[in-house]
Amino acid sequence: MYGIVNKAIQEMVTSRFGEEVWQRVSQRAGIADEDFLSHQPYPDQLTYQLVGAVCEETGMEATPVLEAFGSYWVLETGRARYGGLLEAGGHTLSEFLLNLPNFHARICLIYPELQPPEFLCEATGDNQIRVRYFSQRPGLAPFVRGLLLGVGELYATSVDVIQQHSRTSQDDFDEFLVSWRER
Ligand code: HEM
Repeated sequence: MYGIVNKAIQEMVTSRFGEEVWQRVSQRAGIADEDFLSHQPYPDQLTYQLVGAVCEETGMEATPVLEAFGSYWVLETGRARYGGLLEAGGHTLSEFLLNLPNFHARICLIYPELQPPEFLCEATGDNQIRVRYFSQRPGLAPFVRGLLLGVGELYATSVDVIQQHSRTSQDDFDEFLVSWRER
């Protein structure tokens, strides 16, 4: 994944747990003193190692770490560095989620070697959208749940995100039901 992802993990760990914990995490992941370049692709394995090292150094499970990172990615990294892109995603929460399948097409312009996730989104009721997530990478469903919670917060809306389906050997997607009350 592009360095911006690893950099955002570094920023989240440093801001939540302090510089010392980050030093231990980066040593454990074998990348002490590495300065991630946002626009350079790194092996996916490095990102997984970083998440594993965060778990071992903080005692947290991978699921809450990935969820927290999803929200952080939208609310901190996204808002600070790509605010315009996020705003262009939609005027309302519903519009943003229904546009989600096209969202990374614009990001491919900034990061040409992006291997983007794929989404299929459908309104299943008032204030309720079903989000199907396809990826070449395993294990990132909790990251997506955190992202969806973060997107809700972008629109100052408290959303429920329920995972209704997990990827199996037969079905290559995870599925979430995102719902919220009219504000
Ligand atoms: C301005 C905001 C965003 C930017 C700049 C951005 C950019 C990126 C980048 C650089 C990657 C790494 C992929 C690679 O290097 O091959 C990525 C991955 C990913 N993004 Fe985004 N993204 C943004 C918002 C979102 C949102 C709102 C969602 C969903 C709600 C999302 C879902 C994902 C997922 C699930 C992945 C993991 C890749 C995978 O599943 O294979 N992103 N994104």
